[in-house]
Amino acid sequence: MVARDPHRFVNELDREAIDRLIARLESRSKNVVFTRLFDKYAARIDPGPSGKVLEVGCGTGATARALARRDVFSGKVVGVDQSAHFIHAARQFALDEGISRKIDFHVGDAHSLDFPDGSFDAVFAHTLISHVSDPTAVLREMVRVLRPGGTLAIFDGDYASMTYGHPDHELGHRMDAALVAASFNNPRIMRDLPRLMPGFGLKLNEAWGDAVVEVGSGSYFKSFVETYAPYIIKAGLAPADTVDAWLGAQRQALEDGTFFAACTYYTYLAQRSGEPDS
Ligand SMILES: C[S@@+](CC[C@H](N)C(=O)[O-])C[C@H]1O[C@@H](n2cnc3c(N)ncnc32)[C@H](O)[C@@H]1O
Repeated sequence: MVARDPHRFVNELDREAIDRLIARLESRSKNVVFTRLFDKYAARIDPGPSGKVLEVGCGTGATARALARRDVFSGKVVGVDQSAHFIHAARQFALDEGISRKIDFHVGDAHSLDFPDGSFDAVFAHTLISHVSDPTAVLREMVRVLRPGGTLAIFDGDYASMTYGHPDHELGHRMDAALVAASFNNPRIMRDLPRLMPGFGLKLNEAWGDAVVEVGSGSYFKSFVETYAPYIIKAGLAPADTVDAWLGAQRQALEDGTFFAACTYYTYLAQRSGEPDS
């Protein structure tokens, strides 16, 4: 069996698994770690009055809604996701929050976006690029629909750096690798983007990293491991009893106040400076 990133293959999951991912995306969006990281770049993708922003891979619309909710935001957000279930949920959440006039959601594939060239003032992807089948095709599409001079923002984890503490270092290392392989199609893509961007007519204007660390207690990484550890077993990357014992050790560490988990996240802000040359 091979690893099947659940967000890449979301349309092949059953309803129960999709509902779990919807719950995870929504609870993640309320986590202080998530809001802190998004707020750091949200102002930079505000195109001003009557501007249009596209979020590619919007999921349940958590990030698109966070942008639209900003007091100063006066433009329009369009969110695209491959999952009709996620888009249905996104529309409902926006309605519930009373912000649907500022947001549109569409089902679509990031590899071939259904929008004309140059139709957005800003385009962003928040934890999408680590999941897609072909990151360069997605980058090309994001640039194509961005107007010249517009801002492109990509935020994602460098998941090759994701690690959980465990007293058996050799087992801990194997489980880190299995969790990452089961959850992300492109765990190292953030290391490649600075090299790839110029070839797509992008000038990288700003880049920064954030170490997300939970020591003693954990919420962000607790929810992550509870959601995605079962995919290690499904992918056959480790036997169920090994995963269960490792997960048990993480729960025990949380209870004992000895938990450790960390990952580095990166934000890239680029400008479409010219015509893509590839
Ligand atoms: C981790 S979620 C992030 C959702 C949202 N940006 C957020 O931060 O809450 C990744 C999303 O990318 C979507 N996705 C993955 N591959 C895609 C593709 N080829 N086209 C459109 N969406 C895709 C998944 O369906 C999923 O909703």
